[in-house]
Amino acid sequence: MTETMIDKLPFERSDPFDPPAELGSLRETAPISRLRFPDGHAGWLVTSYALAREVHADRRFSSRSELHHIIREVGGQAVPQQPPARPGMFIGMDAPDHTRYRKLLTGQFTVRRMNQLMPRIEQIVAEHLAELRAQGSPADLVENFALPVPSMVICELLGVPYEEREGFQRDTSAALSLNKSFEEIRAAFERVQEFVADLARRKRVEPGDDMISGLIATGELTDEEVANMGMLLLIAGHETTANMLGLGTFLLLTRPDQLQLLRDDPALVDNAVEEMLRYLTIIHFGTTRTAAEDVEIGGVVVRAGETVSISVPAANRDPERFERPDEFDVTRSASGHLSFGHGVHQCLGQQLARIEMRAGYAALFREFPDLRLAVPASEVRMRTDMGIYGVHELPVAFS
Ligand code: HEM
Repeated sequence: MTETMIDKLPFERSDPFDPPAELGSLRETAPISRLRFPDGHAGWLVTSYALAREVHADRRFSSRSELHHIIREVGGQAVPQQPPARPGMFIGMDAPDHTRYRKLLTGQFTVRRMNQLMPRIEQIVAEHLAELRAQGSPADLVENFALPVPSMVICELLGVPYEEREGFQRDTSAALSLNKSFEEIRAAFERVQEFVADLARRKRVEPGDDMISGLIATGELTDEEVANMGMLLLIAGHETTANMLGLGTFLLLTRPDQLQLLRDDPALVDNAVEEMLRYLTIIHFGTTRTAAEDVEIGGVVVRAGETVSISVPAANRDPERFERPDEFDVTRSASGHLSFGHGVHQCLGQQLARIEMRAGYAALFREFPDLRLAVPASEVRMRTDMGIYGVHELPVAFS
């Protein structure tokens, strides 16, 4: 296997919906290759589907965020990919801590709660579409729909009181915005963090029928752990789903043949959502693991302490796994894609995300039969340098 050192994670795209072409060439010639990280570390880059699955499934590769070398650079500065693992932030932990926290949170995703949530999600979608219409054409679909819908769903999960939702929503949207200054974004993020911490303290005194109260009721978590788990839900569940809604709409509006298939047969929406997840792979910097011991994989030895960047976008376009991988086809079976990860850390909110996207797309294209872009596609600003790929705003027109 090659020892070629790539000096930077490829990120330049020639098409807004396709991963950088260089990743595809690497997948063919060196599906695991050496990669120089922005902090100087000589790590690895995985680009094939088979190896991406293998690394995710192999517990010798650690998720501990403090072990990872930094893969992302913004404005010349190395940016940590995941938040540092504070108590309860189990996405950046290994067993046994990860197992314990994950089990406690999984226990909160009950069938009863999900069933109660479903009609609420439809209602939230309907309310925001009504507001979008009230805004008048043209309007920004991101600000009026893609960002607030997942934020309101998180409010339901966390049990944010109704009268406090507007402020919460404003702050979470500001924390994810790029149209604000760095200072404004940081201040908004801190307000959200303080709000969730305060919410956890209040729910201990006055519990409700929500996940925060449920986590407290387990009797196994401190307020700090509960608050951090709430923040994890918010961080992992808001920006991701919001960008899938925004970017997915942009994609469909530029592929009228595929949109027509969906309009002709609305039952295709489940399938279309799966294909959008595969084709768009919004976690465009992939996932990260660090070898806890020497591991032989794909013909190379990854030494203990070396970090592996797994390019999920490249893996999801692997022709060995998906036929005609670069074609967007809402009728294909895209199941098996790695957009929600794989193995013990596989996305805990994936069913919820699917419900939100299915409800969101179905209602959007039903209620706005002539929805179209209000600017040329080339003018839509892409989130190339953000942790989660998507569009900054999506000006749409309708009658
Ligand atoms: C389209 C939307 C979403 C995408 C693409 C997505 C993607 C992912 C991925 C790739 C991982 C695995 C990270 C890794 O292996 O290092 C993950 C983990 C996670 N996601 Fe999601 N996610 C989405 C929505 C959500 C939602 C709605 C929630 C909850 C409300 C959520 C909660 C979580 C949590 C708690 C984890 C950590 C699981 C663990 O470490 O055991 N996600 N997500």
